[in-house]
Amino acid sequence: MAARSALMAGIAKQLGHPRGVGGRLVGIALNRGNRGFVRAAVQALHADGDAAVADVGFGGGVGLKSLLDSVSRAGRVHGVEVSDTMLEQAAKRFRRDVASGRLALHSGSLTRLPFADGVLNGVVTVNTIYFVAELEQAFAELARVTTQSGRVVVGVGDPATMAKMPFTSHGFRLRPVPEVVDALEGAGFTVEHRRISAADGAPHLLIGTPVPTKA
Ligand SMILES: C[S@@+](CC[C@H](N)C(=O)[O-])C[C@H]1O[C@@H](n2cnc3c(N)ncnc32)[C@H](O)[C@@H]1O
Repeated sequence: MAARSALMAGIAKQLGHPRGVGGRLVGIALNRGNRGFVRAAVQALHADGDAAVADVGFGGGVGLKSLLDSVSRAGRVHGVEVSDTMLEQAAKRFRRDVASGRLALHSGSLTRLPFADGVLNGVVTVNTIYFVAELEQAFAELARVTTQSGRVVVGVGDPATMAKMPFTSHGFRLRPVPEVVDALEGAGFTVEHRRISAADGAPHLLIGTPVPTKA
């Protein structure tokens, strides 16, 4: 029982911050397991043409690939990660896009994004906020870096479904979805709430557009 608990704690730790060989395997598993969810989040971003967009906490990089496919050759994709292992994996996998300047990889955090104010047309962040204690700070950062006409998509697993997963009791913050919506609204977004499918326990997409500021 203690061994199983230690294993689950190890998995939770790797999911929150993939490291080393185990972290690289986690990156591959994330891409397989979350492909549909991440792609739905990128679709909901409606990034077009020469947009500047970012995936924050891109893990194995499936969202970077979707974003690169969704913007034109003049578009620019940014990936932000706290994990050096995920950054190294993405630098290898996407070396041509990095070399051509279409993709920039940054070491950084949701709570301190490596961008100037109002420079991104869209940001996705999927399966990340479970690892962030300072949600208000994270969403204030999303609001700060996004243009007035931009949008952000926050993807979260269904808390009840996630609570049944044996590793989530090891430090995951499974917030009720209305609490996450409130936090996004508090940061200045109008929020549309969708599920990625009609299936029981389907993940949630929270699509935020900045509330227009008075001239
Ligand atoms: C469960 S994985 C999800 C990866 C990918 N978005 C997906 O859905 O497959 C969580 C990722 O978020 C990253 N992460 C954790 N805390 C972060 C933070 N504060 N800022 C940016 N990324 C973070 C981790 O390094 C990890 O790669």
